[in-house]
Order: sequence, then structure tokens, then C-alpha cells
Amino acid sequence: MSVIVFGSINLDLVATVEHRPQPGETLLASGFTSTPGGKGANQALAARKMGASVRMVGAVGNDSFAEPALSLLQQAGIDLSHVAHLNDSSTGLAFIHLDEQGENSITVVSGANYQVEAQGLAALEQILTAKDILVMQLEIPLTSVQQAIVIARRKGAAVLIDPAPGVSDLPAELLQVDIFIPNRGEAEMVLKHSIESIEQAREAAQELHQRGAKLGVVKLGAEGAVWANEQGTGYQPALKVQAIDSTGAGDAFAGALAAVLNQSTDTALDLAAAMRQASIFAALATTRLGAQQSYPTLAEVHRHNSSPLRGEAN
Ligand code: RIB
Ligand code: NA
Repeated sequence: MSVIVFGSINLDLVATVEHRPQPGETLLASGFTSTPGGKGANQALAARKMGASVRMVGAVGNDSFAEPALSLLQQAGIDLSHVAHLNDSSTGLAFIHLDEQGENSITVVSGANYQVEAQGLAALEQILTAKDILVMQLEIPLTSVQQAIVIARRKGAAVLIDPAPGVSDLPAELLQVDIFIPNRGEAEMVLKHSIESIEQAREAAQELHQRGAKLGVVKLGAEGAVWANEQGTGYQPALKVQAIDSTGAGDAFAGALAAVLNQSTDTALDLAAAMRQASIFAALATTRLGAQQSYPTLAEVHRHNSSPLRGEAN
């Protein structure tokens, strides 16, 4: 019973700025940190922190960025034996501007993440079992994700797709998986209409379910998350927090959700409880700088599990 993440590994180079740069503007940053990131690696760490056994499948370069990029995954005891170290490409890098509102703009240099195909798929052939959940995002080649879905289906493993970064004209089969979990903007890109309210997001989750996702989830940041499956729809408000950095919060939600669902049986009650835990995990991550380094412990999540959530009566 493992969470297998097939996806990106980056080193995040974060400049803290008053506002994000305008075209042609040169900005002086107020601070700089480099921290481990990458949507795949972020989800892997989130799943591990929620108690899952986790294996990471991906690639880094043979350069000085690889070790810091993998450092927190390694410390957390994630199996990295299927992370390739490639000689002819660089470790993925993400250039992040983080403003005073906690909003970010990110430019990703994919490097080794886009050379992941053959080795990654061979690893999945070898390790995936019917008890596992395969977690993927879109920072690796789309063709790799498509082929990995085929392998997972053959092996009987569950599949979670977090369609980030958003792409237009997403192949239909990417929705025909166990869990499809975009944020609001990505859901708008997939469904080709805008989502202006929680009610519309709930309908969007239903549309995702109708298009083939057993469980469709739309992440709404500080407004929580909505979901739809064959039992109906649900809404999870977000924990009230003082957010300073939302980088990797969506990854945190998806990774935590995969971990909790992989460890529980599939009842409606478990689903609501899993959403609540994933939502708390993601909210706590926004209260600290960085992606992976801001992820809470399981104990912190449990401590907040009885706190009032935004939108709930207290
Ligand atoms: O989702 C957040 C992540 O996106 C960052 O960690 C950065 O590496 C980019 O991949
Ligand atoms: Na954070």
C-alpha cells in the first residue's frame, strides 16, 4: 500500500518582493531563499507526512541543484531509488516571485523533468501494484502521463491526476481516472467556462465526475474545496489561517488526500474526513515560507482537526 508519485522535482529559487514585476521593470528583492519544490516532489512529501509509504519516480540532473532539491524527500524516508540522475540535463528549477500578499508567479525550467519518459515508465512497470495509488501532475511530458495511466490501469492501481500547470485541450483520458483534482483556474481550462462561486465550483466538480473522474475535486484555496462522486457532492471549507505563502499548497492538498484515501476504505464518511485532513494540511502549509519546508506534521494536522473552519458555524 504505497503512494507512488511520478512527477517533477525542482529546486525553488524564491525572491520575496513587494509586488511582482511588471513588463520591463527591474525589481530589488527584499529576500531570497532556495528550497526544495516541484509539484511531484511536493506531493510526495505531503503524502509521506500524512503517514503513507511513498516512492518517488522522476529525474534530476548531475549538478549541484540535485542534492538540495531531494533533501527533504530523503530526510522524510521517501524511496528515491527510482529517481534517475541524468548526465546531460540539469535539475529542474523554479524561479519564484513571492509578493507581500503571499501570491506568487513561477517560471519553471524543466530540465531533467522532461527527460523522464523511458526510465520512469520502466520503473512504474516494475513497482506498481493494485494496492497503490499513482499520483501525477503535468510538469513531466504529457505522453509520459498518458502511458503511465495505461500501466496503472493494467496493474489495477488507482490514479490521481492533478492537472497542474493547466493546459488547454487536455486529452479526455486524463479525466478518466480515480481522482482528478484541479484548482479553480485549471478546472476552468479543462471545462472551458468560468467558475465564479462555490456553487459553480460544485457544479464543475460534477462535470469532472460526468466526464469520467470517479472523484472530481476542485481546490478553491482559502475558500476550501468541493467534490463530486457517484454518491453526490460535498464542500470542505478551509481552515482560517494567516497565509503568507501559498506556493505548493495545492500540491499539499492533493498529496495529503492521496495518502489518506490510500490508507482508508472507500466510504462517504471517510471521504469527508479525508478532505478535511487534506484541507487542514494545505492551510497550515500557507502559514510558512516555501513549499515542502512549510508542510506540517501529522500531529499538527490532528491538533487542528477540531478547529473551526472558514464558513462553518463555531
Ligand atoms: O506548485 C508549486 C511548485 O510549482 C513549486 O514548488 C515549483 O517548483 C513549481 O513546480
Ligand atoms: Na508555504
